[in-house]
Amino acid sequence: MDRQNLTKYIRLGVNLDHLATIREARHTPYPDLVEAIRVAETAGADGITIHLREDRRHIQTRDVYNARTAVTTSLNLEMSVSDEMIDIAKDVKPDYCCLVPERREELTTEGGLDVRANKVRIQQVCDTLSYGGIKVSLFVEPAIPIIDIAAEIGAPIIELHTGTYANATETELENELNRLRHATDYATDKGLQVNAGHGLHYHNVGPIAAIQGIQELNIGHSIIARALFTGLADATAEMKAAMEQARKS
Ligand code: PXP
Repeated sequence: MDRQNLTKYIRLGVNLDHLATIREARHTPYPDLVEAIRVAETAGADGITIHLREDRRHIQTRDVYNARTAVTTSLNLEMSVSDEMIDIAKDVKPDYCCLVPERREELTTEGGLDVRANKVRIQQVCDTLSYGGIKVSLFVEPAIPIIDIAAEIGAPIIELHTGTYANATETELENELNRLRHATDYATDKGLQVNAGHGLHYHNVGPIAAIQGIQELNIGHSIIARALFTGLADATAEMKAAMEQARKS
């Protein structure tokens, strides 16, 4: 991919998992996922992301089907590489599938995919989903050897894990940013589309959005948390504005 041709535009994928976390805390029908999709898209979301976890702690299987019907932008389904998830994805046909590692006891996705240990399985899953017309992205750490393997696997997109950046101390921050910048340039030169996400919020999103090669950020927890005070429309629009501001400057 020619770096010069990457646009000034950066896409926001709004992750709605934690709307479902609130709903599942009481097993109520509210807050309504379909209404949230409509509000987020109207406020400027370029895509909607949901993570169907094996333990179903937030998003449920029916949500994935409802989202497929409701989403008018693009639907990104985050999932593990289990047979159950592959069957659901093939049936629902989201626009994108982001393959993530999953461990039951974790609070949220910890670390990127182990593409080295699971290369054959991930490659099989990529082939199956691509054959079904779904664009596959691999959630990976911003490390060159990992990007090399991701490129060999053949998925068209990687999503760089920004969790280490989000948790970095002041002294670690520049180093982490440089890792992400270098990984973005390297992957772009290899012809991969580069997205990023995890742990991004209104105060730390700027330097990531400013990395020219990154095409999309997937952001969830901070937007839902902000929505408690401002409503989801404003929370989405504010995040989009923060990203666009950083990309322009
Ligand atoms: N990208 C991926 C692959 C994720 O697993 C998550 C968390 O579900 C996110 C982005 C969004 O992270 P956060 O909720 O911290 O914004």
